[in-house]
Amino acid sequence: MDITQTQSWRQLQALAEQMHSTHLRDLFADDPARAQRYSLELPSFLLDYSKNLIDDGVFVNLLQLAREAEVEPWRDSMFAGASINRTEDRPVLHPALRGSIAAEVRWNGEPVAATVQAELQRLKEFVNLLHNGALTGCTGKPVTDVVNLGVGGSHLGPQMVIEALREYRKGAVDVHFVSNVDGAQLADILQRLNPETTLFLVSSKTFSTAETLTNAQSALGWLGSLASREELLSRHFVAVTASPGRARAFGIEAERIFRFWDWVGGRFSLWSAIGLPVAIAVGFEGFRALLDGAAEMDRHFREAPLEQNAPVLMALTSVWYCTFMGYPAHAVLPYDQALHMLPAYLQQAEMESNGKSTTRNGEEAAYATGPLIWGQLGINGQHAFYQYLHQSPAVVPADFIGSVAAGHELEGHHEILLANLFAQSQALMQGVSREAVMADLRARGLDEAEAAALAPFKVHRGNRPSNTILMKKLCPHSLGALVALYEHKIFVQGVVLQIYSFDQWGVELGKGLASALQPKLGSGDLSEEDASTTRLIEYYRRTVAV
Ligand code: F6P
Repeated sequence: MDITQTQSWRQLQALAEQMHSTHLRDLFADDPARAQRYSLELPSFLLDYSKNLIDDGVFVNLLQLAREAEVEPWRDSMFAGASINRTEDRPVLHPALRGSIAAEVRWNGEPVAATVQAELQRLKEFVNLLHNGALTGCTGKPVTDVVNLGVGGSHLGPQMVIEALREYRKGAVDVHFVSNVDGAQLADILQRLNPETTLFLVSSKTFSTAETLTNAQSALGWLGSLASREELLSRHFVAVTASPGRARAFGIEAERIFRFWDWVGGRFSLWSAIGLPVAIAVGFEGFRALLDGAAEMDRHFREAPLEQNAPVLMALTSVWYCTFMGYPAHAVLPYDQALHMLPAYLQQAEMESNGKSTTRNGEEAAYATGPLIWGQLGINGQHAFYQYLHQSPAVVPADFIGSVAAGHELEGHHEILLANLFAQSQALMQGVSREAVMADLRARGLDEAEAAALAPFKVHRGNRPSNTILMKKLCPHSLGALVALYEHKIFVQGVVLQIYSFDQWGVELGKGLASALQPKLGSGDLSEEDASTTRLIEYYRRTVAV
């Protein structure tokens, strides 16, 4: 089935033409119940999607598109453990990590739920040992610092969550992250640590990522002469991986290897043993609450009708903008300092999943697929790039994210923060007309000519759509629900656009070329390289030699 041949697709193309000349201001004016109708209250948050450029005609057709794309059967297949990651011939079972799949689902003959539980129990025991000071380095001193060596999905999720849950920190062990092969990052962290009390988590699904393994080797070198290599590896290293054989070959002991499985995508692995840094930072119960929050969203996604299904609604509006309205980017704007890493996390989650142009039938997509995801803390953005959001010709739909309760006790701050959140989505939606600008300028004493000259610069077209996710409070549970909301949104987008969201072939080409070029940096034949690459390497060789 070609999604572009469906009735709803054609309808939506026509409706997009009309919607370009509709203003959100008018949609609100015409329907006093709009905010009520286009919002959803879930246990952890309110999703207000009323500031989207949709009306009932668009809404009905987007839902019809979801049905024609078979979102519900695909969703049910995922939860039933079918091999929906077809290019890698694997099921997609990260919901199993939070207990959201049926007990009978098996992988390689093993019941998935039981396997997950057993590994969670190992994590729990390990975290308890660490928190009790019972885990010691090779000189007998208790571990005080844990350094996670990992990149992409083996880094972004745990660090994003730990940053988000600073208020919930437990225990005295500090957690650090090194993701970059740029030695500056590792060197900076190591110079603050004591080798005797430092434990390294080598987090890598494949245990073959060059950046992570290079950092692991350097970490081993840094531990230096404290003990024999074997003892250092056994007391100061832990692996988190879906490739335990490679971790063993590196020298990490079997009982220090925490497992996850091929059916967990790297960017969806936060809920697996990859979340060990989270469990260390906020305690195992905090990690459990994160999983429970995600499970709550799994239930909602599975059970709510499409028209009241938060991930489905967010996916459909995203498809509407990127594919039909021609808005190729989407901003993520948290109004919560603790969520400062969320945009970076969602960049990987969404762009590595849906940044593709081959449809499930192996053909080039004749339409725009997933948007460019970007963003940063809303308040900082207001003083940086919001000018573009308000007045550039480009329209960038946005997600505003905040919490009713503050994560601190300083008076007055939170109200200012939330007032800004509400004001920005309001300003983007309403804009300011020329008439209103002129009236304001006249009231300020400008004469007609002065006002007319200045007015065009002050006009805001508005009509810039957004969602607002207003959480009751940012806590492990609500954060789990929020992240799972985005995961399922990404999945639905992929299903509707008929692309496979769970592979990432596009990251392989560059990796291969980097390994081939690395030995040539010093010397060697460059005749097979393109002229630009040759020029860069020659310049490097000349300069490094001076
Ligand atoms: O390069 C992309 C990627 O493959 C991601 O999908 C993954 O999260 C990251 O690299 C790290 O991979 P690994 O966990 O296998 O080291």
